[in-house]
Amino acid sequence: MSDLVVVSNRGPATFSVDADGSLVARHAAGGLAPSLVSALSGTGALWIATAMSDGDRRVAVEGLPASLAGGIGLRLVDVGPEVRDLAYRVVANGTLWFLYHGLFDQVRQPRCDRSWHEAWAGYREFNRLIAEEVASSADEGATVVVNDYHLALLGSHLAGLRPDLSTVHFHHTPFCTPEELRILPSAVVTELVGSLAAFGACGFHTRRWAESFRRCVEAVACEAPAVFVAPLGPDATELTRVVGSPGTVRKRAELLERLGGRALVLRSDRVELSKNLLRGFLAFGELLEERPELRSRVVFIARTYASREDLPEYVAYRTEVEELVARLNERFGSGRRPPVELEVADDFEASVAALCSYDVLLVNPLRDGMNLVAKEGPVVNDRHGVLALSREAGAFDELGSAALAVEPFDVSGTAAQLGRALDMDPVERARRSGELAPVAAGRTPASWFAEVARAARRPRRGDGVGS
Ligand code: G6P
Repeated sequence: MSDLVVVSNRGPATFSVDADGSLVARHAAGGLAPSLVSALSGTGALWIATAMSDGDRRVAVEGLPASLAGGIGLRLVDVGPEVRDLAYRVVANGTLWFLYHGLFDQVRQPRCDRSWHEAWAGYREFNRLIAEEVASSADEGATVVVNDYHLALLGSHLAGLRPDLSTVHFHHTPFCTPEELRILPSAVVTELVGSLAAFGACGFHTRRWAESFRRCVEAVACEAPAVFVAPLGPDATELTRVVGSPGTVRKRAELLERLGGRALVLRSDRVELSKNLLRGFLAFGELLEERPELRSRVVFIARTYASREDLPEYVAYRTEVEELVARLNERFGSGRRPPVELEVADDFEASVAALCSYDVLLVNPLRDGMNLVAKEGPVVNDRHGVLALSREAGAFDELGSAALAVEPFDVSGTAAQLGRALDMDPVERARRSGELAPVAAGRTPASWFAEVARAARRPRRGDGVGS
């Protein structure tokens, strides 16, 4: 039993079973999980997550061996492969993620047909199973912090099962407007928003997503929970440790040699539809078209890692990205030095080495809850690198005034901003990066978590949107 319970779909690590039958933990390199690991250190929280791999399922049955626990109390719940597939692949990633990020190609998607409604029933069951685990693990009056769109229905389940708990839900994604919400069947909308509203409080990274949510609650006409804003920041201490680690130092030296004096335009993302990789490359292509002198003086490195390849849209997107990069290199490359390098590998040290070294960091998502890369870059970069940042990223609220603003759909505008960043004089670069670094490091996972837990314990209603 615990008086602080944290819930997320993905846990701190994915477990696999070695040839000799022992469990091996593989820690996620990006996304929500590393922030939660950092936030929970020393809190004594119990972390409840779902089993995703065969190794995870073994942990769900046998518990976590002390050698792998790393000071975190972890419980994995096995909801079964079918429920997990319907809830995670079809509803959470295939529907809610698309809805909240404005990604639907509405001529074709979504199709809320019989199989989709079955998936919604699976999502409901997924949420019920996790809620039961929470209800049986939380002390009387405990605080429960629930993360993200996979677990929206926990609100009403927990309100019914354990009204004594102080519950809070936090979206690390954007939230859609009431107009966009109308894409889903109205009974589903009522269930989804009504259940989120049954949490004591609902949190978001920026006012914009909080305001969209508040309007959705109004549209559904249910009783409003407290809505709050708590921006997340990177763990600067941990990043500094990684910067100085032998692996990162070696990878940085290799990178600098590969650059051979060329300026570095960098992006670092999951291969994710909302990250807008295609328009970023197209913009770089336009820049090289207009300014041939840059072809030998600049390299665009995209450090990416594969994501959600169980969804056909992601597989197709990755292929499209790879084909575009090949076309750009054919068009603008000469000899051994292609102007675009696409690296698809989950290698955190190599990503940090690149973040230390960029001249321009391109972060151009179509829409993003926060985008931690936009903060991690300015924290570790020591070249007075310029941040070209989408105005649709949550991070823009805090960093926009010192970044160069990118309108993510405007390819030519993005090309112009990349050119401007590359041309920027050293004094302006130093001024802007000097402004970015302290803001980017100003909030940590621990300070974020403290704000979220506080919001859970505040009286339920009447807070309104505020930070
Ligand atoms: C990103 C988002 C999180 C989300 C996670 C899920 O990190 O910022 O909001 O929970 O993706 O990714 P996954 O790989 O578990 O589908």
